[in-house]
Amino acid sequence: MSARLSAAPEPSVRVRAPGKVNLALRVGPVGADGYHPLATIFQAVSLFEEVTATQVPAGAGISLTVSGPQAEAVPTDETNLAWRAAALLADRTGLAADVALHVTKGVPVAGGMAGGSADAAAALVACDALWEAGVPRAELVEMAAELGADVPFSLLGHTAVGTGRGDLLTPAMTRGEFHWCFGTQRTGLSTPSVFRRFDELAGPSTPAVAPADDTELMHALRAGDPVALGKALHNDLERPALDLRPELAEVLEVATEAGALGVVVSGSGPTVAALGRSRQHALALGAAWTAADVVDQIWCATGPAPGTQVVTSVARS
Ligand code: C5P
Repeated sequence: MSARLSAAPEPSVRVRAPGKVNLALRVGPVGADGYHPLATIFQAVSLFEEVTATQVPAGAGISLTVSGPQAEAVPTDETNLAWRAAALLADRTGLAADVALHVTKGVPVAGGMAGGSADAAAALVACDALWEAGVPRAELVEMAAELGADVPFSLLGHTAVGTGRGDLLTPAMTRGEFHWCFGTQRTGLSTPSVFRRFDELAGPSTPAVAPADDTELMHALRAGDPVALGKALHNDLERPALDLRPELAEVLEVATEAGALGVVVSGSGPTVAALGRSRQHALALGAAWTAADVVDQIWCATGPAPGTQVVTSVARS
């Protein structure tokens, strides 16, 4: 009888990172760098991307696979933000860029909920742990900002005020849980094209932005008052998103008629976020969308949710 040795599993690290909704998103005039100054309030929600980083032999390079809802819509080459995150971390630390990445999607793709940014945040943390790089948190945040304006918030999670490109963050105090339902469309909207339409619609007279415009929203968060929060939701990208996708108006209308406390386009869209009084009410809002046949999929979630964190880690044996 031949003895069979069971191979030890390769070292790996599994990390999860949340998607987000912008409770408020105020957009200023486009700068010379092509970016718009923002005053935004992010809330992380309980829809998570998972990235598993597994050790591969030296010289194997980076590889990437993707699974989960809408996985077929996600590139698996060096244009993927998770791949770019691993490459950037290797470059900055001088370590070899050898890793097999697997992304499990849990955030709608191209929906304005920062799923790709969550992949980048998760890949940074996963590779840092797998390669035992020990990069200080502040440097990870800098790399995150280089990868995309929403990536630092995915690292931080919970609720935060974002200024600059949305990457300069201050945590915001909140009480309790808020119950959301998100309605998504099969075809996404490209973030740059929504910002471009914003410029076309706003013209040269776009006023500067200030987070001070959202004091009522901040009060609602501190009080844990979903009714006041619903009234204060605001998104300057809603108009350009509706202009590019007029059928979104009906999505907003159906949720409002179904008694949502507030309804807003999430980020650059086309996802629409509806705030419910309770988990059941959020589900009922999703049911109203399904019955009216105005969204392709509904996703119920709560916020705030924690930022990027290691879920499991298989060490070298
Ligand atoms: O930073 P990220 O790659 O996520 O941004 C995608 C695009 O969205 C940018 O290239 C830019 O066109 C637009 N954007 C912007 N102003 C911001 C953030 C993003 O114009 N503050």
